[in-house]
This record gives sequence, C-alpha cells and structure tokens, in this order.
Amino acid sequence: MKLILNGNINVYYVQTLCMIFFPGEKFGAAEEASADAPTLTLTLTESDEGLTAAAEVTLREKQAFAEKFYAFSDTVTRDKTAKLACGAAVISACGELMGYRPAWGMLTGVRPSKVATELLQEGLSKTRVKKILTSEYFVIPKKAALATDVAINEQKLIGNGSTKDCSVYVAIPFCPTRCSYCSFVSYTSPKLLALIPDYLTHLIEDLEKMFAKIKELGLHVKTLYIGGGTPTILTADQLRVLLGKIASLTDVFALEEYTLEAGRPDTITQEKFSVAKEYGVTRICVNPQSLCDEVLQSIGRAHTADDFLRAFEMARESGIPYINTDLIVGLPGDNFQSFSQTFDKILSLHPENITVHTFCVKKAAEILRQGSNVYSLRGGDAGKCVDYTQLRAQQEGYLPYYMYRQKNTVGNFENVGFSLPGAEGRYNIYMMEEVHSIFAVGAGAVSKMVDYRPENGGKPIIERLFYPKYPYEYLKDESTEEKISAMEEFYRRHRLI
Ligand SMILES: C[S@@+](CC[C@H](N)C(=O)[O-])C[C@H]1O[C@@H](n2cnc3c(N)ncnc32)[C@H](O)[C@@H]1O
Ligand code: SF4
Repeated sequence: MKLILNGNINVYYVQTLCMIFFPGEKFGAAEEASADAPTLTLTLTESDEGLTAAAEVTLREKQAFAEKFYAFSDTVTRDKTAKLACGAAVISACGELMGYRPAWGMLTGVRPSKVATELLQEGLSKTRVKKILTSEYFVIPKKAALATDVAINEQKLIGNGSTKDCSVYVAIPFCPTRCSYCSFVSYTSPKLLALIPDYLTHLIEDLEKMFAKIKELGLHVKTLYIGGGTPTILTADQLRVLLGKIASLTDVFALEEYTLEAGRPDTITQEKFSVAKEYGVTRICVNPQSLCDEVLQSIGRAHTADDFLRAFEMARESGIPYINTDLIVGLPGDNFQSFSQTFDKILSLHPENITVHTFCVKKAAEILRQGSNVYSLRGGDAGKCVDYTQLRAQQEGYLPYYMYRQKNTVGNFENVGFSLPGAEGRYNIYMMEEVHSIFAVGAGAVSKMVDYRPENGGKPIIERLFYPKYPYEYLKDESTEEKISAMEEFYRRHRLI
C-alpha cells in the first residue's frame, strides 16, 4: 500500500488503521507499491483552534475523501487530538471506499476497553461513555457496550491493590505436536522435547532465586500462572517435581489463584490433575478450540472433540474448582452452524471461564504458508459467531470480564474472557490492566515491573525484563541474578518497598 503523509503524523497508527481495511497489505517505499495497490494521502494541518486531517484514498478507479476537524482542549493532549483527527478521517474515507464500517472504529490497540476505563475513571456515566465511543471513536454500538461492560467488571475486580502485590508466570514452551495455526514459540520435535529435563532443572534454579528475592523485598504473590506451550506435556512425575518445588518456595494455598494451563486434551491424565490439586492449583485450562472434528483435523490439533470431553470430565472429577476452556472463532473450515454447536455444548458443561479468541493469522503460522486465503474484510461468519458467544454467554449468566485484541484477526474482532460471577481469572486481569508486577521465568518469559498507583492518575510506569525466546538459548542463560538486581533497583527507585 502507498502512504503519503503530510504533517506530524504517527505513521504506525495510520498503517494499523489501513490494515483494518486492507488486511495483508505491506507498507514499503511509496514508489515500490504496485499500480493497483491502494493509496492513502493524509494531510494534517494546524490552526489556532485545532487540527484538521484530510484523507484521500484511492483503489484502482475508486476514490473517497474525508476531512475532520478536532478542536484543542485543556484535557486532551496535542498528540491525542492529532490521533483522533487522523483516525476519524482515515476511517471515514476508507469506510466509504470499501463500504465497510469496522466494528472497533479507530480503536486499534490491544485493550479496546482502555478508553472506556479512562472515561469511567473521569466520572462519566456508562451511557455517556458508550456515546463517546460511538460518536468520537466510531465504535459500533454493541462493541461500545461490550467495552464499557468489560471496563466496569475489570475495575470491580482490581479493587484496591497494594504496591507490594505481584504475580508470577512460569513458562513451559513445549507441546506434543504443533497445531498449524499457532505461531507461539514452542518446541515440538522429539529432539527438542528431550531438553525438557534440563529445562526443568534450570527453571527450578531460576524460580528459587526469583522467589527468594520476592520474599526478601516483602512482596505478596497474589496469583501464579503456569503457561505454555502445553505445561501438561510434563509427565506426572515432572509435574510433581515442579509444583512441589513451587510449593516449597511460596505458600501456594494462600494464593488468590493458581492456574495450570493444561491446554491440549491429549496431554491430560487423571494423575496429572491430582498432582495439580495436591499442590494447590485452583484453575486449569482445558482447551477444545472447536468441538467439530473436521475443524480440529484441519488445524492439526491432534485430538478429537471426545478427547476434550473426557479431559473436561477428568478436570471436574479432580476437584480443582475453576476450569477455563479456550475457543477460537473463524478457524478455517468452521462456520456459524458448527461454531454455534461448539459453543452451546461448552455452555452445557458450565465451565467457570470461557475464553473466546478470534482466529489470528500470524506470519509464522503454517496455515499462511499453505496459501490459505483466510483474510477477509468482514471475517466471513466470524462476526456472527462472536455476536453469538456474547449473547449466549450473557443469557447463561456469564459476564465478559477481560478483553484484548491482536493484529491480523479475522474481521478484526476481539478476544473476550467470560466468567461466571466470582470465578474470574484474576491473573488475566492483572496482566492486562498492569496493576502490579508480573515476574516471569523461563524461555520467552517477559517480566513486567509495574509502578501503579491510582492516586497518580492510574497510569502505570512499566519496565520489562526478557529471557531468551527459545528453550535452547534459555538453557545457556545466566541472566537471572542480573534480573533480580534490576527488580530490586526498580522497587527501590520507585519507593515501592
Ligand atoms: C498460548 S496458547 C496455549 C494453549 C494450549 N497450548 C492449547 O493450545 O490449548 C493460548 C490460547 O491462544 C489461542 N490461540 C493460539 N493461537 C491462536 C491463533 N492463531 N488465533 C487465535 N487464537 C489463538 C488458543 O485458544 C489457545 O488456547
Ligand atoms: S498446543 Fe497450543 S501452544 Fe502448542 S502448538 Fe498447539 S496451539 Fe500452539
């Protein structure tokens, strides 16, 4: 796609907006774009009163134009005014050209409920927040209502935290086989899976150091999350070693929540769940993604719907109180009929949490390499499926309690976590809302050190610490001492302890 920008304009933001209308387009040098590539000319001009953005977009013989003026105000920064003006002009021009109104309007970020949260914190009513989202951000009414509901539910759960609160994430980036749609870093070949014992040894050493520092600084671990990959790829004995070690390092029975992302039903056994229960796990994820065997087969998930149902039953029998199930809307080969049957079946099982993701086409995913044309502007049946989940979940007593978006999702739709009241996945909220630090250990793990104080306007100050991406590199990594010093330094510098 060809972009011609005149004025002080955030290029990345404009590219992200364009990708809503022209998914898959690349943004190289203007002269390199092919003759039939879309072209956007965006001009931002300033007067004493405010900013005017004029957008002209052409695609072959079609053309559309929009101009938007945003006045300066004492409460909105210049950058934000520019973003609003550019966003409104691009959305209006591209929308007219393509005959399409994107559900989330000009909200392109990971957290579409963020604007709603900020407006609610300013004291605006729910009705007023929804109105602003629709009129100023071009969000369609049902998504404005969803964002506002999520913001309200999240804020209730965050409550009054302490600067000493933190959570811990433990990464197990190994899976029995690779699903074709997935681009998470995870080792799957037998040669790489053979690294698991050494990986666990290294992980445990790092956990010992991390928990020792947490204790020394007087921090309070609220939630713990063991994620993947597929943590239940570990044998029951390996799981016992890992969970037993964690239980010796922190009081797991005092945690607000302890999640084990079991994930793939084909790795689940009764014995692994009883180990999890014995060592204090309170929440497990058992993920079908779809309950249609043809879809499961087409995405290379090495299990059937029946395998999921058996694993779910084991999860219930284990006595672990909270079960989450992950689903994906818009998978290749799925349609409204098969997805709605999947969703109804999941509802009939009454899991405490249901997380509905929208299929995200990532560059690394094999599905793209296979040349499958899964990109489509309106996302085929995906919008109908997403609406169905939101309607049916609420009819069955579930609340949407957390939400995030990824780039390149089918139809640009969102990922929503639903929960029965009182059973919300707390780690997800803490991680998304950045209200306290998350200390992450293992390959690909990213710690977020957070200074969040509502009295400072609620805007967190965040610093990140990265472990190497691949387990093979992690095995040679010796950065933990350095990381825990950085942690301590952050806490002292921000006077959090
Ligand atoms: C980190 S993955 C790991 C979960 C576990 N290994 C499994 O596959 O069941 C967490 C969730 O992200 C979602 N996910 C993974 N790849 C996705 C994609 N390409 N598009 C949308 N959701 C995806 C799936 O619902 C998955 O359960
Ligand atoms: S099991 Fe989960 S993490 Fe592993 S390849 Fe499949 S989707 Fe990705």
